[in-house]
Amino acid sequence: MEAGYREELLAALRLQLEWGVDEALEEAPIDRFAVRAPQPLAMPQPDAPPVLATPAVKAAARSLLPMVPPPAAAAAALAAAAQDLAGLKAAIAEVDSPLRDTATNLVFSDGVAESGLMMVGEAPGADEDRLGKPFVGVSGQLLDRMLASIGLNRAENFYLTNILPWRPPGNRTPTDGEITLFLPFLMRHIEMVRPRHLVLLGGVSAKALLRAKDGITRLRGRWHQVETPAGTLPGLATLHPAYLLRTPSAKREAWSDLLLLRRTLNGDAAPQ
Ligand code: URA
Repeated sequence: MEAGYREELLAALRLQLEWGVDEALEEAPIDRFAVRAPQPLAMPQPDAPPVLATPAVKAAARSLLPMVPPPAAAAAALAAAAQDLAGLKAAIAEVDSPLRDTATNLVFSDGVAESGLMMVGEAPGADEDRLGKPFVGVSGQLLDRMLASIGLNRAENFYLTNILPWRPPGNRTPTDGEITLFLPFLMRHIEMVRPRHLVLLGGVSAKALLRAKDGITRLRGRWHQVETPAGTLPGLATLHPAYLLRTPSAKREAWSDLLLLRRTLNGDAAPQ
């Protein structure tokens, strides 16, 4: 054996030991670098029976594929493994999403988690992305003023998060794929916080949590039943504050939703 070739083989052996190989499975070594003789192309035989995609054939084909979970399944497993809010935030940061590459900060939540009232918006905008907190831009300031008028403020008696934790570039509407990817984290978030009431701010939040096809103008103004891992929770759908900034005449409806929220929190209206 040539000295150079022997050195290469010894180096390969050392590498295997470093990688933790401690057992030989075959009596004789197999040279995996040996060039495989080209295989003749299998030509279909005219009288050979066609291979039908029967369930058994499909199952066999599936078993040959590498067992890589689809992104949403991997995200759901990550969310389920998180044990507390800090762990959930860290798990979200691990999700491989193009949104993570374009955003600056992960926006997780703000407010009092134990308050019993959890509001869910759509996605961070530019200000939220810069500061890493939900609803801190102009629409957030409007939301704060509206909620203050019914005695709610985030330092004391409500909690806030979004459907998406990262800002979509240019504030575009979240795609269905993005919502599906991050919904397991929101569900786990709700499971940890265990609110008594949810408020769904805007169409994206309402549609995602109610799995509804209707738009927000049909969904708003009433309590819905939201299926969550913490059980079925009452969720009030209302208009998004950014929409109210663009359409001030809609503030009338938003005000009526807020009064319904206040009456329900006071125990003067049933949340159904
Ligand atoms: N709009 C949202 O839906 N969420 C925010 O955090 C800010 C603006």
